[in-house]
Amino acid sequence: MNPKTKNNASGRTSTRKKKTTPPTRVQPPAKRASGGRFPLKVESIRKIFRQGDAELHVLEGASLEVQRGEIVALVGESGCGKSTLLQIAGLLDTPDGGEVRILGEAATKLPDRERTKLRREKLGFIYQFHHLLPDFSALENVMLPQILAGKSRREARNHGEKLLAKLGLGDRLQHRPGQLSGGEQQRVAIARALANQPAILLADEPTGNLDPGTAASVFAMLVELSAEHGMATLVVTHNRELARATDRMITLEEGKVMPLDSSR
Ligand SMILES: Nc1ncnc2c1ncn2[C@@H]1O[C@H](COP(=O)(O)OP(=O)(O)OP(=O)(O)O)[C@@H](O)[C@H]1O
Ligand SMILES: [Mg+2]
Repeated sequence: MNPKTKNNASGRTSTRKKKTTPPTRVQPPAKRASGGRFPLKVESIRKIFRQGDAELHVLEGASLEVQRGEIVALVGESGCGKSTLLQIAGLLDTPDGGEVRILGEAATKLPDRERTKLRREKLGFIYQFHHLLPDFSALENVMLPQILAGKSRREARNHGEKLLAKLGLGDRLQHRPGQLSGGEQQRVAIARALANQPAILLADEPTGNLDPGTAASVFAMLVELSAEHGMATLVVTHNRELARATDRMITLEEGKVMPLDSSR
């Protein structure tokens, strides 16, 4: 592996959609009072897994930023640390060094309660294997995070119905996950992730378990919704073809984030 220019580790190269963007830009000031343009900032993250005497240095100074309304694809070979980085960015795991800023707020050292609150209110997650609750209907799965965030059942139901209808599932509200197709399950998972209007959306191979046609349509939906809802979206995918539909691509090399030319 051949690490490239280190001062461009956030991967901000020109994109196909934003043709006016110059190929290299001066980094913004290191410290900002708020999230500024970047709802999600991951700064110099280190992560070491220890097993007995052995140490596995998975992330060694991984940094990235995602803008409002931007969708970034994280691609890379199996085991390079994509899920680890996503879990840390999503406050589901703690790093050994570095910081994660959610809307400008340093989140890694917050007490558990505050981290959970931030996660519930500002972050949405989508996984490869949807993780929907099997005994609950599609609608209930989308209602639940809203109720946990303090909405009334009625509000949660109304919003859930609207979201599911928008994702083409208006006639599947009462189906349980086991009664839905893979693509439908994943669309419910997207609706659930969007339920609390998160500022940041994190997705770990959300289409990895779907046939190519369904994967393409679910992925397209994700790209469209990110722009429409103005979310900062980071999506892990093995599929370069799909990744090219995003604003830009990044990868992990030797534990660091590197930009990838979208034409590659
Ligand atoms: N809890 C853990 N304990 C020890 N090692 C771990 C742990 N979690 C992950 N690893 C190791 O860290 C490395 C990175 O794992 P990670 O799941 O982030 O990879 P990935 O890029 O998401 O791979 P894939 O594309 O296969 O999903 C792997 O070598 C993995 O074996
Ligand atoms: Mg993974």
